[in-house]
Amino acid sequence: AAEQRETWTSSTGFILAAIGSAVGLGNIWRFPGVAYESGGGAFLIPYLVALLTAGIPILFLDYSIGHRYRAAAPLAYRRMAKPTETLGWFQIMLSFVIAVYYAAVIAWAASYFIFAFNLRWGQDTLGFFVGEYLKVGDPEISTTVVPAVAVPLVLVWVAVLVVIALGVTAGVQKVNVIFIPLLGVAFLGLVIRALTLPGAMDGLNAFFTPDWGALADLNVWIAAYSQIFFSLSIAFGIMVTYASYQRRKANMTSSGLVVAFANSSFEILAGIGVFATLGFMANQQSVQVSELEGLTGPILSFVTFPAVINEMPGGAIFGVVFFGSLILAGFTSIISILLGVAASVQEKFGLSRRGSAILVSGICAVLSVLLFSTTSGLLALDTVDQWANNVGIVLSAIVMTVLVVWVFRKSETLRRHLNAVSTFQVGRIWIALIGVVAPAFLVIMLGQKLVSLVNDGYEGLPQWYLNLFGWGTIVFVVVAAVVLSAIPWKGRDDEKFVPWP
Ligand code: PHE
Ligand code: NA
Repeated sequence: AAEQRETWTSSTGFILAAIGSAVGLGNIWRFPGVAYESGGGAFLIPYLVALLTAGIPILFLDYSIGHRYRAAAPLAYRRMAKPTETLGWFQIMLSFVIAVYYAAVIAWAASYFIFAFNLRWGQDTLGFFVGEYLKVGDPEISTTVVPAVAVPLVLVWVAVLVVIALGVTAGVQKVNVIFIPLLGVAFLGLVIRALTLPGAMDGLNAFFTPDWGALADLNVWIAAYSQIFFSLSIAFGIMVTYASYQRRKANMTSSGLVVAFANSSFEILAGIGVFATLGFMANQQSVQVSELEGLTGPILSFVTFPAVINEMPGGAIFGVVFFGSLILAGFTSIISILLGVAASVQEKFGLSRRGSAILVSGICAVLSVLLFSTTSGLLALDTVDQWANNVGIVLSAIVMTVLVVWVFRKSETLRRHLNAVSTFQVGRIWIALIGVVAPAFLVIMLGQKLVSLVNDGYEGLPQWYLNLFGWGTIVFVVVAAVVLSAIPWKGRDDEKFVPWP
């Protein structure tokens, strides 16, 4: 017998789960560095433009498709218009790629959570992270697995598997209802502590002082859009899946506004907390914040932060809470990704919930260990992240908006759907945004990004390496999407599906 489709038990359950998906490593580990690198205070302008013109509109689009067609992304798209099943798989495979490396960062955070108790990293925090912990080698493909990384990584996957196997209500919702309030309290505590450190204001000045010139740089704009997509978990098929578990009477747009507001607040707060802390560090070393090194990428959380923690009174507690927050934030996001992937596989192949949870988590765990817990894992991770987020997700958003609005002409149906169930009514401007403004902007930015990746490469890495981990990621996602959608549908027959409301 087919399992009864589960639902979130209340709108609070849905909102907490959606916030759990949104608030993640993207907010704490990725945003502060991206913002600093891309013009500091001036970055808030492209960031807000991206949020209002693409972020919230595409969040609504994800919600409307999921809620109306009540399935994980591939089937929801298929029910909307058969050929778009491929887009559903493209989004889900991109999520899958992200999950595989995202888990590695959670595993690092788990190790550092333990290291923080006695400041295990010592004074040379860069040497410790790169040398002693990750044992980084050349940009080759190494098969030497580093046990100190692999063990927490496997534990992360076991925990993910258990939650997904428990399902939407008893697994995902329950975890979020506990973790998200805990994260809110812990993180607020961290930020308040950071703001009371000497030098905190210098850090905030460095963070918020606008470099207006950055606004003329298209790469800054693309960084803002891809940060918004990644951060809100949109155009990944994940919010489509989450919305599909909403009950029939569900206030979709109002929930969306709450989630978007919570995510951006958390992001700005993280930027403030991180830079207040860096201001303290600069103050201790009697230098300017801008003279500090390692303010971007993976380095910020795992090298620069431990160095600050070393110098802070009560640093160990601060460190434990910081890395604990990273774990909570990351875990509630990765379970959303895995739920999306597992539910898609379950529906397509007619598997049980447990069966698909075991299959999908197992594959992810093996790939994670092989690719990202070896001595070449750090560089591979950074390269995959660059392509998945600046190329893959932008492409996904363009294809999605163009197919929905122009090719299959579903935007008016979806708008009416949203308005029929929600209190916050969506005007025609929504269609203008998803149909014209967002795709036009995104096409220009993607074009520019492709030109710069082709001409300038990335971080001086050899071309074969970029072909494999960068372009290869995109090729893999496209091929997998085409193959998966070509396989005949084996799950429950969906021909007689009647959409809500
Ligand atoms: N939004 C999450 C973050 O900010 C990451 C994520 C991406 C989650 C894609 C789900 C889907 O960290
Ligand atoms: Na986020």
